[in-house]
Amino acid sequence: MWGGRFASGPAAIMEAINASIGFDQKLYAQDIRGSIAHSEMLAAQGIITAEDQVAIAEGLRTIQREIETGSFQFSRQLEDIHMNVESRLATLVGPAAGRLHTARSRNDQVAVDFRLWVKDELARVDHALTKLIAAFLNRAEEHAATVMPGFTHLQTAQPVTFGHHCMAYVEMFGRDLSRVRDASARLDESPLGAAALAGTGFPIDRHSTAQALGFREPTRNSIDSVSDRDYALEFLSLSAICATHLSRLAEEIVIWSTPQFGFIRLSDAFSTGSSIMPQKKNPDAAELTRAKTGRINGHLIALLTVMKGLPLAYSKDMQEDKEAVFDAAETLDLMVAAMTGMVSDMTVQTEAMARAAGSGYSTATDLADWLVRTLNLPFREAHHVTGRAVALAEAKKIGLEELALADLQSIHAGITDAIFDVLSVENSVGSRTSYGGTAPDQVRKQIAYWKERLAQG
Ligand code: ARG
Repeated sequence: MWGGRFASGPAAIMEAINASIGFDQKLYAQDIRGSIAHSEMLAAQGIITAEDQVAIAEGLRTIQREIETGSFQFSRQLEDIHMNVESRLATLVGPAAGRLHTARSRNDQVAVDFRLWVKDELARVDHALTKLIAAFLNRAEEHAATVMPGFTHLQTAQPVTFGHHCMAYVEMFGRDLSRVRDASARLDESPLGAAALAGTGFPIDRHSTAQALGFREPTRNSIDSVSDRDYALEFLSLSAICATHLSRLAEEIVIWSTPQFGFIRLSDAFSTGSSIMPQKKNPDAAELTRAKTGRINGHLIALLTVMKGLPLAYSKDMQEDKEAVFDAAETLDLMVAAMTGMVSDMTVQTEAMARAAGSGYSTATDLADWLVRTLNLPFREAHHVTGRAVALAEAKKIGLEELALADLQSIHAGITDAIFDVLSVENSVGSRTSYGGTAPDQVRKQIAYWKERLAQG
């Protein structure tokens, strides 16, 4: 491609470090799409002839078919996808191929290809997250009133409903979804026509190529157009945050599916057995989801580090953006799909949840609240009285609701048997009616809100 200036070819090691075809062949469809749009614009502007444009476009479509049927010969000597395609085009259509690169550089070419690819991937993530959220909404609807213990510090805190817990994940993945949409809107500008970095003297029409490629508008600054990889960084950062949410979910699935917790039973489809211990059912997909988060975080840090020292405009360092994004995308797609499957398929063990919800003195706060409401005790004093009741129940190895009224009255004389109403987990959960609280009615309101929001798209 630059034979005019060079007397000899590259050293083998130069070729090895320089070539990106091993991974950027993934961009073939975007590359061809971008080139066809560019050629059409060149012809419309009278920069190339209509005959040449037709030959170019036909040649490019042939190449696309060759790649998709596996007959295309990729060459490492030709470095990357752009030069592999262009070289094949020269073989197929002759001199017209050489006119395609008028008013364009690989710098804006790769930027447009990669943006198109990331945009498509964001659409895939959007779709996958919507399905995951839908799976949680189903579980939440089914279990809006199913009690389970809520935890802080992984210690029993207060009873909540499983539906409410599911809706917490809906909020998390809902934020991820809105990050996907923000990122998609921000990247929706076409860098094509920025050329190497300075723009071009040819009378190109960047608005028409932007439109043809489905971008909202062209980028405004040619230097930034070829220097910017924010869209890749944003993809990686939103992926890292989403992976973090998936990992927390995975961790909970691992814990809940232990015989000790027994809150859920994994489906056969989403668990594995042990080669030696016949009783085992392991949550491998959840464990791998938890683990793969590290990989995505690594890709984010890697690309941030690549970009942090780069002077404007293009530097070859930026070629390192692709493997990070491709691997993160493939990994995230797999993680979201696996967690969607696990959440949809798991059996919720409502009895084990209810039993656990009532243990660990989970309604102690309800007792304290009753003392405040009924006897007008200051909350700190009510906390102290309740602490003594818990200590007494613990000494007797019984639940709070099993204490005799006389025992409770020995701690505070004002207590009446009305107290027993608030000590049940159902009552506790039902009383948390504040906006966003765990009362089943509130949970159903949250579900309705999200259904409506998802329906709006
Ligand atoms: N393979 C290159 C990349 O991914 C394409 C751009 C090359 N541009 C250049 N001036 N060497 O970044």
